[in-house]
Amino acid sequence: MSFCKWVSLIFVLNLFYQLPILSNSLDLAEIPKNFLSYAKKPEFFEWMVGVRRKIHENPELGYEEFETSKLIRDELEKMGIPYKHPIAITGVVGYIGSGKPPFVAIRADMDALAMQESVEWEHKSKNPGKMHACGHDAHVAMLLGAAKILQDRREDLEGTVVLVFQPAEEGGGGAKKMVDAGALENVDAIFGLHVSTDKPIGTVASRPGPLLAGSGFFEAIISGRGGHAAIPQHSIDPILAASNVIVSLQHLVSREADPLDSQVVTVAKFQGGGAFNVIPDSVTIAGTFRAFSTESFMQLKQRIEEVITGQAAVQRCNATVDFLEDTKPIFPVTVNSEDLHGHFLNVAGDMLGASNVRDMQPLMGSEDFSFYSEVIPGYFSFLGMKKENVKSVPGHSPFFTVNEDALPYGAALHASLAARYLLEYQPQVQSSQGELHDEL
Ligand SMILES: *[C@@H]1O[C@H](CO)[C@@H](O)[C@H](O)[C@H]1NC(C)=O
Ligand SMILES: [Zn+2]
Ligand SMILES: [Zn+2]
Repeated sequence: MSFCKWVSLIFVLNLFYQLPILSNSLDLAEIPKNFLSYAKKPEFFEWMVGVRRKIHENPELGYEEFETSKLIRDELEKMGIPYKHPIAITGVVGYIGSGKPPFVAIRADMDALAMQESVEWEHKSKNPGKMHACGHDAHVAMLLGAAKILQDRREDLEGTVVLVFQPAEEGGGGAKKMVDAGALENVDAIFGLHVSTDKPIGTVASRPGPLLAGSGFFEAIISGRGGHAAIPQHSIDPILAASNVIVSLQHLVSREADPLDSQVVTVAKFQGGGAFNVIPDSVTIAGTFRAFSTESFMQLKQRIEEVITGQAAVQRCNATVDFLEDTKPIFPVTVNSEDLHGHFLNVAGDMLGASNVRDMQPLMGSEDFSFYSEVIPGYFSFLGMKKENVKSVPGHSPFFTVNEDALPYGAALHASLAARYLLEYQPQVQSSQGELHDEL
């Protein structure tokens, strides 16, 4: 550790000493502000930017985040934070605090997308056909930032913060594998965030209840009998049958679903035939479906299968439907805990001002964070990073960029949501001894 770092650490410890986070409720409100100004300090900020750029240069796809995982472990080791690895192949789970309950988790995803970066800059992806175009590089940097903030204050944490670095959010269901591997053992609540290019920097947005849709995929093979295109009576035409299947699928949302219960069925793939004058043997169609409740989702899933096989049969074709659950796991609906919504409003409001904590409509997109919030109370939010007067490029675009000025906000938000959770959600027995803490 350089002299400079020592000085800044001593300075921070001093600052912290003057504002002991446990003494009274007024100080609770100071925690998020302190954490944010700490994360904005040039040295701290530059370290996070460095981490983010290093990950950006070396994007790795789901379950292949070996270097990213190594970088995370190296940083945790430098901070003296114990961790478990490997979990779900590349996943890392770190622990900060007393090692005792309550346990609160904060989560980042590590994977990149299979696409070529089109942004020309010094830290452009060095891996052809791979890019961090969803901001998961920033998510990792922010969670490491939160880890540093919390580790510096570990003596004051009234419980344990669990750092969850997961693989394969982009369709791979890495969160499910983390849960199956026991990453949430003993954990009482979990928080996650996602950078957002259409919300201004310095703001956050979320809502209680359903936030992101449940999502599934389907692929169907509709088989008929191929033959001469000019003598259709000798064939069973799967192209026409598949076309009718697709039209019938549109009725599920327009005629069977409650208009106030948002749902989507999209056929995004249609493959069949190769010649102008030959009726093919079969056609493959595939797509995705979304809904905001498990009930609507399961209803949609069942009806998709019935409509495809039934409508194909009307035209003498056979159809098989595959929901591809082995390779593309069904993502549950992301439902935010009502209780944690209050906590989020308090903490984010103390950090940014109540007017910068926005309510938002649910989004049809999905997040595998839902695998966590399915088993324990969870809360997912969006962190604004839009620069004023700059046209934003949405995620999953080859021109996507991260506004690195958002990194301190994400780090401080993670850290304060966790630290305040431990202070405010003490088991009943301990909270009755509150006065004791005041003496410390
Ligand atoms: C559909 O399946 C049945 C039963 O296996 C078979 O007899 C029939 O030939 C199939 N029809 C087509 C068009 O593939
Ligand atoms: Zn994404
Ligand atoms: Zn993402």
